[in-house]
Order: sequence, then structure tokens, then C-alpha cells
Amino acid sequence: MSSDLVVIGLGYVGLPLAQEAIRSGLSVIGYDVSDRVIDGLMAGKSHVDDLSNQDIEEMRTKGFIATKDDSVLAQAKAIVICVPTPLSDDGGPDLGAVLGATKAIAKNLRKGQLVVLESTTYPGTTEEVVQPILESGGLKAGVDFHLAFSPERIDPGNKKFGMRNTPKVVGGVNPESTEVAAALYSKFVDTVVRAKGTREAEMAKLLENTYRHINIALVNEMAMFSKDLKIDLWDVIKCASTKPFGFQAFYPGPGVGGHCIPIDPNYLSYQVKANLGYAFRFVELAQEINAGMPSYVVRRTQDLLNNVGKPLKGSTVLLLGVTYKPDIADQRESPAIPVGQQLMEHGAKVIFHDPMVEQWNLEGTKLDRIKDLDMALSTSDITILLQDHTSYDHKSLADKAKLLFDTRGQIDIAGVERL
Ligand SMILES: NC(=O)c1ccc[n+]([C@@H]2O[C@H](COP(=O)([O-])OP(=O)(O)OC[C@H]3O[C@@H](n4cnc5c(N)ncnc54)[C@H](O)[C@@H]3O)[C@@H](O)[C@H]2O)c1
Repeated sequence: MSSDLVVIGLGYVGLPLAQEAIRSGLSVIGYDVSDRVIDGLMAGKSHVDDLSNQDIEEMRTKGFIATKDDSVLAQAKAIVICVPTPLSDDGGPDLGAVLGATKAIAKNLRKGQLVVLESTTYPGTTEEVVQPILESGGLKAGVDFHLAFSPERIDPGNKKFGMRNTPKVVGGVNPESTEVAAALYSKFVDTVVRAKGTREAEMAKLLENTYRHINIALVNEMAMFSKDLKIDLWDVIKCASTKPFGFQAFYPGPGVGGHCIPIDPNYLSYQVKANLGYAFRFVELAQEINAGMPSYVVRRTQDLLNNVGKPLKGSTVLLLGVTYKPDIADQRESPAIPVGQQLMEHGAKVIFHDPMVEQWNLEGTKLDRIKDLDMALSTSDITILLQDHTSYDHKSLADKAKLLFDTRGQIDIAGVERL
């Protein structure tokens, strides 16, 4: 079956890309290795927060199909790889899915095709890992087919910036590949930015996420000593944010989560260490500070309970919001997991509520969402707001909880403890 575009990997990144490409009039096929994903999509069901079932239906009526059959790759004009790149056990990127997807393409590669890698990875992956596999059948990148890297910038749950109005960076193995990739994205993205090459495009993504990681670590460290100095850091950030240039606000929290911020900077520090033999010290420090935040939250919880004469052991702790960002259901790398785990290790009884999550898998222990939030607030020894979903009524939380610890700094009401 021929198509303008095959999207490999139909998750948080691949599906919105397929949707926007279809809306611009391209014929799009989705290729994925998961039966659950394919069956769901073919039945008109979305499994990602940013797309509704109606969106999938709309895509289906415009000819979108999802399949496990890699022969669709042979008849595509362009192929974009959007598969996961988790951290491996040794701290580097696990390229298993990228390798799997690349081998599937190599088997079906035809002259004139465009292949773009979007999965976040370390600089050099496109030319050192993907290119040799694609060339194993005899075709040459930049000569017989086009090859580029284009970092994904999707921000799940962001209502203002989506696929179309977020500028797209592309960098090819040669200028022609860059131009062919830019021409593809120009059909459904308002602004395309050309990088000098694949490595610059790969590194741009890591700079963006490392910048975020480091600045979050900076305010997290400041939050810890501001507490001891009796300074309200939230007020400090509010004041500093009024400077119209040279400052961007970042906020402290219980740790960093999601598929990108806690993971991507490690790709870079791993590569710097493995290839050059020295440390990327900023990333290592940020990692250490951000990874320590869940323990800090647990320590503060313990102190708050002690202040009212209670030990953590045996106390009931209600966690509010276990996802990694507000108003989405994604729990990947959420700091709620180490917080919950450590509370349990200290002998606390952990219960949870999250409007987006019915059952929470806390490292093997399956917890059902409490049914009566008001009752749980008034009976729990302490409530910790870990994620500030829009549906949470701050005043009601403050009124009803015996003790409320707000790790997001959103509840400026007397008696509420903020991080
Ligand atoms: N989610 C985000 O907010 C975000 C933002 C920017 C960048 N990224 C990057 O984009 C990439 C994809 O992330 P995601 O969040 O969409 O992941 P995801 O887990 O939501 O989706 C990935 C999909 O790829 C499929 N898959 C896995 N191996 C495959 C293979 N060999 N062949 C075909 N399909 C395969 C999975 O079944 C899954 O459906 C990652 O590198 C990630 O770091 C993600």
C-alpha cells in the first residue's frame, strides 16, 4: 500500500505527527510493533492524552491505518521514526527500538525515500548507528536516499503549542537531505529551521532539555536552603519574573519526571564520558539534586508529622496527583513513585488520589484511587500535593486536610506548608 508518509511508533510523539500530516492532506500509515496500540487505533480508540477518540476517527476517515506489517515501508515516500529511547541499565540510551525500526526500514528501503529519525538520542546516532544499517543493502545515504534527524518537541497537554506552531529543526546527512526533510515538514509545520547537520539537530534537543533540567535543579537547591533561611522562594521567583529580559522562571517541585527531562541529559553526559573520558559536571550535579528531591519531600513530611507529635511510621499519607505533569495521565518517571516508595519503606500507609489515574502501580503494589476525596483529606494524617491538576480546589484542600504539604507551591494559604 503506497503512502506519502509512514510514521513508525504511534505514541505521544508519532500520533500527533500523523494527525497533523493527515490534516495537511498527506496519506499516512502508522507502523507499530504493539498489538494493543494497533488494535486500539483501528477500533478508533486513542491511547495518548493529546488525541481524543474523535481525533482517531477523523484520521481513520481520511484513510489512516495502523499496522504491524513492515512491507508498508517499501511504498512510502517518507518514513519518520518516533520510537522510545529509554535509559539502559548503564545510564546510556537504550537504542533497541531505534535499531528494530531501522532494521525494518533497511529491509524495505527504496531509492528516493526520505528517512527521518525523531527519537531523542545522543549526537552521532543518525550517522553512526542508523545510517550504516540503512546502507547495509547497498543504497547510499545522501545519494540514493535521504536521511535526516529532526528532534521532537511535543509538549503533551500544552494547549498553546502543538505540532503545527512549534518550529521544527531538521538536519540532514547532506544539504539535499536537509531540504527534502524540510519540504516534508513544511507541509504541516509553520516554521522549519535548518540545522547544519544531523549532529547539530541531535544536540539542539539535548541542549533544550539539559537547560531545563539544570534550571529546575537550581531552583530545587534554592528551595531547600530558602526554607532554612525563612525566605519564600515562590515570592522570590514571582518578583524575579518581572524582569522582562535575561530571566526565565523555573519552579521547584518534588523531582523531575516524564520521558525527557530526567533522561535526555544523561545521553549527553554518558557520551561525553564514554567518548572523551571526562564528566559533564552540570548534568551530573543537576541529576544529583533533582534525584534527591523525593527524599527531601519525605524528610519534610516526617518533620511536619513530628511537629504534631506523630511518627511517619503508622501514619496515613494521602498523595494527590501521581502523574509527572498536570492534567495528563502519563506517569513515566514520575517523582510520585520514589516519594510513595520511600514513605512505604518508612512504614507509612500510602493512599492516593489522581483525577487522571484510577489504579496506580507503585513498584509492584497496585493501589486503587480513593473514592471519597473529602473523607480521605479529613482522615489522613497528612496530605501531600505532588501534582497540581486543574480540578483540585486549593481552598477545599486547605480547609479539609489535617495537614497539607504543597510541593508545587501553588497554595498560598495560612497553615499550608509549601516546599
Ligand atoms: N512524549 C514526549 O513528550 C516526548 C517529547 C519529545 C521527545 N520525545 C521522544 O520521542 C520518542 C518517542 O517517545 P514517545 O513518548 O512517543 O513514546 P511512546 O512510548 O508513547 O510511543 C512509542 C511507540 O513506539 C512503538 N515501538 C516501540 N518499538 C518499536 C519498533 N521497533 N518498531 C515500531 N514501533 C515501535 C511502541 O509500541 C509505542 O507505541 C522518544 O525518543 C522520546 O524521548 C518524547
